[in-house]
Amino acid sequence: MKEMLEQIRVRALDALDAAQDSNELEALRVQLLGKKGELTAVLKQMGGLSAEERPVMGQLANNVRADIEKKLEARKVELKAKALEEKLKAEAIDITIPGDPVSLGHKHPMNKALDEAKEIFIGMGFQILEGPEVELAEYNFTKLNTEEGHPARDRSDTFYITDDDSVLLRTQTSPMQIRAMEAIKNPPIRVLAPGRVYRKDEVDATHSPMFHQIEGLVIDKGITMADLKGTLVTLVKSLYGEDAVTRFRPHHFPFTEPSCEVDVQCFKCHGAGCPTCKGEGWIELLGAGMVHPKVLENCGIDPEVYSGFAFGIGLERMAMRRFRISDLRLIFENDVRFLEQF
Ligand code: PHE
Repeated sequence: MKEMLEQIRVRALDALDAAQDSNELEALRVQLLGKKGELTAVLKQMGGLSAEERPVMGQLANNVRADIEKKLEARKVELKAKALEEKLKAEAIDITIPGDPVSLGHKHPMNKALDEAKEIFIGMGFQILEGPEVELAEYNFTKLNTEEGHPARDRSDTFYITDDDSVLLRTQTSPMQIRAMEAIKNPPIRVLAPGRVYRKDEVDATHSPMFHQIEGLVIDKGITMADLKGTLVTLVKSLYGEDAVTRFRPHHFPFTEPSCEVDVQCFKCHGAGCPTCKGEGWIELLGAGMVHPKVLENCGIDPEVYSGFAFGIGLERMAMRRFRISDLRLIFENDVRFLEQF
């Protein structure tokens, strides 16, 4: 029996040494130490031993079992470490391999033009405001001195939201004049309010049912048309260069008096007339005027004490001129081949 036990020990330790992974180790454990294992089989024969031999063999069997268990544990640890090392090797990332280039987006030409305009006005002390695109007719029209029945309120031009025509998609950013005056209350007021506006227009090279405007409003004591001109000429020169030429034309808006439209001399033909300016030599850029006394009153500002000017710039037009884009639709189609050029 002694030899059998010694044999088991030697074979077991060799086998454990040779095992390649934890599955093999587990199979060996069952084969050697399990209920039907080799060691158990030997121990079952202990009954046939003499009283003197039995404790000696028992002691030896325990030693063999302890040796096998110890070896088993040690191999487990070794194989686990080996497995981990192999896994790390297999999953290693070579950080020196060049990556796949990520194609980065960039600013839309219209946002570029808007950011430039914002910079210019912030430099002149304006604050930037934003307001709702779903607006009250009260703000979009009535308080802007555009009473019910005025042709500008026609259902064929405006997207009304409610049946009673009291809520609409704003047709202009001018309601932000009212919101600014109501919010700030005490002049001086200098705000710039960019945003989307909506009109029932068919899409063509110069029209879209959704477009963008930038509203400007200045209210203070002693503001005159000269301030309006100085501000807008500064804008045009900053955007289009020192040699850009502007023209102020009389016009009518219900909420400004007097009112004007401002044109820039065509960047292509310098006034001679060409296809870009439709032969006129000038390109319309914005509407403006001195804030109507009634509008000031509607907002609780005394027109005897304060005066001001307002303007509304078509942002798409501004960007088209700035980047020499010929068709409005290009701005909204968002074809990357077009956008990548800016
Ligand atoms: N809201 C006018 C328009 O959409 C532009 C404008 C703004 C005119 C402010 C005068 C003053 O045409």
